[in-house]
Amino acid sequence: MKQTMKQHLPLKPALVLLAGFLYVAPLAAQEFVSARIACGPWIQAAGETEFTVVWKTTTDAVVWVEVAPDDGSHFYACERPKYYESVYGRRPVGDLHTVRITGLAPGTAYRYRLYQQALLLNAGNRRMVFGEAFGNDLLQQRHYTVTTLDAARPECRFSMLNDIHGDDSLFRKLTADVGALNNHFMIFNGDMLSQIESTQQIVDGYLKTAGQRFAPFLPLFAVRGNHEHRGAASYDYMRYFPTATGQPYYTFRHGPAFFIALDCGEDKPDSDIRYYGLALTDRLREEQADWLRKVVASDAFKEAPVKIVILHMPPAWKANHWHGMREIARLFMPILNDAGIDLMLCGHLHRYLFLDKGDANNRFPILVNANRTRLDAVVDPQEIRLSVVDADGKTLHTHRLSRTAKYLAH
Ligand SMILES: [Fe+2]
Repeated sequence: MKQTMKQHLPLKPALVLLAGFLYVAPLAAQEFVSARIACGPWIQAAGETEFTVVWKTTTDAVVWVEVAPDDGSHFYACERPKYYESVYGRRPVGDLHTVRITGLAPGTAYRYRLYQQALLLNAGNRRMVFGEAFGNDLLQQRHYTVTTLDAARPECRFSMLNDIHGDDSLFRKLTADVGALNNHFMIFNGDMLSQIESTQQIVDGYLKTAGQRFAPFLPLFAVRGNHEHRGAASYDYMRYFPTATGQPYYTFRHGPAFFIALDCGEDKPDSDIRYYGLALTDRLREEQADWLRKVVASDAFKEAPVKIVILHMPPAWKANHWHGMREIARLFMPILNDAGIDLMLCGHLHRYLFLDKGDANNRFPILVNANRTRLDAVVDPQEIRLSVVDADGKTLHTHRLSRTAKYLAH
């Protein structure tokens, strides 16, 4: 007599199959789950031949990015190279995604498309189920375009914001017309939140708006202020803003300018009771000073016609200044004063301040941008032009820093 397959199955495997069916079956009855973009993308760690795309999805997913030249061809003209998120040889599952794009040409525009595939079921190594992959709608030509940095470019244009402290409505006003500036990148110079208690605060405080306004198209260079050192989710900061060095301090070059981005650390002594014994920013500043000596000794730094420092807290120049600013004056300024720096850009004080050479034991000008203004900059080998603009678009201060006149004109 012919036996059925069911009769041949041993009891244990049959139970496993049944359990698997019961576990997966509810998925069919559920509303289809897809991963969508929750925030971003934003471009990090841009260089002449690479950039990193970061974005957040509405649910856990695996992702990749497809890249095409900006040559007028349809994105579907051919198969485009895929760049996968990769962590130690595996594709990670999560809701924050970081994909490095490499092997690019300087000063070249590239189109890119995000793809994300939701994790529907995670029963461990035995059973993982992913949904359908979703990407930007290419039939509607909805891709992003970003241009790599280029040292050969004759000028460099950027805007800087700082001390927003999670005021998204202010951030919206200050960035309302930023698209008309023909910027090449943006700078966030610290204290964009008051403290980071959850990563959702980063999204709600300014990053979602940045993703809607400019961050998919303009590289973003961010440094921490003292307030980004605080809060339960402050440890996630570097996951949201990865850098080329893997550290919160780094350099980049665009047009005639070499930029040094420094982490200011905390403002009070690390032992202050408000830091709960968790701050080690004295050590961080010492470590940076060692790194900074190597940077200013490098050919890449020396060869750049213009040298600009980005640092949230300015160096102390008065006896009543706090510990962090005093440490910046002690550790960073002797190195920078001997390095031929052309300009330092700071925040922190919540007021505009222009420190000319010598005002703060400085051999280069320091501009402190206020908390409710945006700084716009155009840099060429002869001149740095700076404008400080308020939330109504009114220009409050301008500086023309002539390199040949040693920056005395403004
Ligand atoms: Fe600050």
